[in-house]
Amino acid sequence: MMSITIALSKGRIFDDTAPLLKAAGIVALDDPETSRKLILATNRDNVRLIIVRASDVPTYVQYGAADMGIAGKDVLLEHGGAGLYQPLDLNIARCRMMVAVRDDFDYESAVGRGARVRVATKYFQTAREHFAEKGMHVDLIKLYGSMELAPLVGLADAIVDLVSSGNTLKANHLKAVEEIRPISARLVINQAALKLKREIIQPMLDAFSAAIPQ
Ligand code: PRP
Repeated sequence: MMSITIALSKGRIFDDTAPLLKAAGIVALDDPETSRKLILATNRDNVRLIIVRASDVPTYVQYGAADMGIAGKDVLLEHGGAGLYQPLDLNIARCRMMVAVRDDFDYESAVGRGARVRVATKYFQTAREHFAEKGMHVDLIKLYGSMELAPLVGLADAIVDLVSSGNTLKANHLKAVEEIRPISARLVINQAALKLKREIIQPMLDAFSAAIPQ
């Protein structure tokens, strides 16, 4: 029997994807928040979900260990997208990728006088492209999380991070000074799987597409 493996991360992506999966007639038999299982069976014999780290979703799909997956555009930009077909913006898990600095840091004047700004981020590639396009010389520092801390302890002048409600910035006395791009989650499909398993994948694609929130 031809079967489909879908890679997802738990948390917001899983929660926001559940209604889309449901629209395609797929319901997980376990909740990744309470179960420790990494492979989740669904109500459909030929569909299973695997729970991976958000930044690993494109890798599983690229190598065909998953036929498709759902990943944030932030993650896809860092991955580069090789071997991935990205047919749908699912319009879920929406936020903005922003440059942020301490409340008391004058970003405009630092940029204006051509100061070399130190920027800490886990979005290294996206940040590099953004500042290169602006013609700004920055020193990038790679971090893996809790970027908001970096300007507070003198590791960096600025960060590039995702902002949703803005509460994390506010709680850490930071302000957003520049939007890099809006972010949302995308469906990604392994290119070979799309060809070989089109009869299962196409109806799912159509169902997802009809259920995308506006
Ligand atoms: C993201 C992001 C910020 C926070 C922003 O982290 O990195 O820290 O959310 O949200 P807010 O504007 O609503 O406060 P997330 O919780 O996704 O965890 P992460 O650090 O693992 O990315």
